[in-house]
This record gives sequence, structure tokens and C-alpha cells, in this order.
Amino acid sequence: MTTTTPTHPGGTWTLGDRAVPRVGYGAMQLAGPGVMGPPRDPDEAVAVLREAVALGVTHLDTSAAYGPQVTNRLIREALHPYPDQLLVATKVGARRDAAGGWPTARRPEELRAQVLENLESLGVDALDLVYLRMGDATGPHEGSLAEAFETLAGLRQQGLVRHLGVSNVTAGQVAEARAIAPVVAVQNMFHLAHRGDDDLVDRLADDGIAFVPFFPLGGFTPLQSETLSKVAAAAGTTPTAVALAWLLHRSPNVLVIPGTSSRAHLRENVAAAGLHLSAEQLADLDAIGRRSTLPPGRA
Ligand SMILES: NC(=O)c1ccc[n+]([C@@H]2O[C@H](COP(=O)([O-])OP(=O)(O)OC[C@H]3O[C@@H](n4cnc5c(N)ncnc54)[C@H](OP(=O)(O)O)[C@@H]3O)[C@@H](O)[C@H]2O)c1
Repeated sequence: MTTTTPTHPGGTWTLGDRAVPRVGYGAMQLAGPGVMGPPRDPDEAVAVLREAVALGVTHLDTSAAYGPQVTNRLIREALHPYPDQLLVATKVGARRDAAGGWPTARRPEELRAQVLENLESLGVDALDLVYLRMGDATGPHEGSLAEAFETLAGLRQQGLVRHLGVSNVTAGQVAEARAIAPVVAVQNMFHLAHRGDDDLVDRLADDGIAFVPFFPLGGFTPLQSETLSKVAAAAGTTPTAVALAWLLHRSPNVLVIPGTSSRAHLRENVAAAGLHLSAEQLADLDAIGRRSTLPPGRA
């Protein structure tokens, strides 16, 4: 399933029917503060997206809820007509309210409307990959996703969606979704200091399903750890590069989508795929998640 090539030091993974380099790009940070409104620097936002593709990134992650519609429109402005190899993943299951909240929107008619909105703002006839986002900002919650996922499976059968994924879900919800329609990717919060899905990552790898960690760098609370800084200093690189490289070493089905609003950070993040970590360094980094008792994002 994975191949390592000189072009893509982190190797590739077949996501649905397309091989993508394991380092992708998450567009959420391109919207304004609180993921609402336009970017602080719209020209840089467009430049970041074009630079990502120029660097070989072909897996973008977005949602009509980012802005709302801001990141989708930026992607369209920067990259349409899209290169054949580009895979744009989007999410449905929540909308935005005037206060910037993320109220749940998972009734069949709401999901259909969100798929149509994504098609329109991205300027495509079919969406490459749509995740059903469950839970809320506090994380996944148990509960059936059957009605919502059946709705998306129906939209897939109609040809509006090529592949399906689930996000912010429990292992039980992954299994429930897979009984309804093929799941090509699971997108959950996971990073060096937040390792609740370790078992799920391995089970999905066995079944050929991608695991796409959101907040790979800690999200709104940047990862901080003495061990991480020490490993980075010894390797002559940055803690962010080590955090991404650790994820890429974690399992071949892990596809990273670090978010950034700067081209300089984007270049560093893509370069992290080439960073080799020794067994000793990996053991030191692994210990961060095991001993972490601090809130998610802090180690
Ligand atoms: N499914 C879900 O529920 C869900 C939830 C959250 C996010 N997501 C997806 O996951 C993607 C990744 O999450 P995220 O962007 O929120 O968090 P993240 O990738 O963990 O971290 C992004 C933060 O790290 C900084 N950063 C990035 N590269 C850096 C570098 N090389 N050096 C220093 N700082 C750096 C960014 O600031 P700068 O802009 O200054 O670089 C930004 O503040 C999102 O874009 C989104 O597509 C999904």
C-alpha cells in the first residue's frame, strides 16, 4: 500500500483510488480568527495553497464550515482547474452560527445541503472524499451515526461523492459506518501527546484504511515538551518537524495534514517527511504520550 520514492520522502498512500504523498495540507488555518471570515492576508493564503501543490502536496483538507466557505473558495481561486492528482477532502456534519459556534447539522436534508454547498464552492461535479464529522469540540461521543452515514452513502451512489470517511468518532462508530459503506479514512485528533487512538490506528492499518490525525501539531495549543525540544535540537531541526516525523513513523496509514498560513512553515512541514528518527529517539518521543497528564496539546 505504501511506496517510498525520491519525490515523496514520506512515501505515499492510496486514499480511495488515488496515491497521495503522506504529507498533505489542512486549510482550516487559512480562514480568519476563530475559523470565521476572510484570512488576515488573502494573497499569502492563495500563495500557500499554490506552493503546497508546487511542493508535491496532493491531499488538501477543508470544509465548507471553515469561514464558512472561506477555505473552499480560496482553494478554488488558487487551484481551479484542479490538477488531476489533487484530492480535496471535505467534511460535513456541522454548520456555523453567527457567534462562530459549530452547531450539529446531521439530518439528511442538512447533509445533502452541505454536500451541494461544497460542490458549489469548490467548483466540482463530485467531491473526492467527504467525512461525516461526529461528536463536538470536546471530542467523539457514543451514539449511532447510521442515519447520517446512510445519507452520505446514498449521495455517493448518486455520484456526488467519490469516497467516504468519518471524523471525530469512536471505534464503534467506525465499525458502524463500515457496515453501511466503504470507509477510506478516519480523521480524529491525534498527536504526540494525545494518543487515545493508538489501537484504532493499528487496526485501520491492518484493514488498509487511512488515519488522518487532526491537530497534528497540537492545533490551537501548540505542542510543548522538553523531550520534543531535546530530540529536535539533537537532530538539528524544529519541534514541529519532529512532531510530524513521529506521526509519519507511527504507521504507514497515517497521513498528516498540518495547517499553516505561512509558506515558510509549509516548506518546513513538507521537509519533515524526510526526517529519519532513530529507534532511541522514537522511544523517547513515545514516552511523552504515555506519561502526559496535561490537557490535550500539552506534553
Ligand atoms: N475533523 C475535525 O474535527 C478537525 C478539527 C480541527 C482541524 N481539522 C483539520 O486538521 C488540520 C490541521 O489542524 P490545525 O491546522 O488546526 O492544527 P495543527 O496543524 O496542529 O497546527 C496548526 C498551527 O501550527 C502552526 N504551525 C504550522 N506549521 C508550523 C511550523 N512549521 N512552525 C511553527 N508553527 C507551525 C500554525 O501557525 P502558522 O499559521 O503561523 O504556521 C498553526 O497555528 C486543519 O487544517 C483541518 O483541516 C479537522
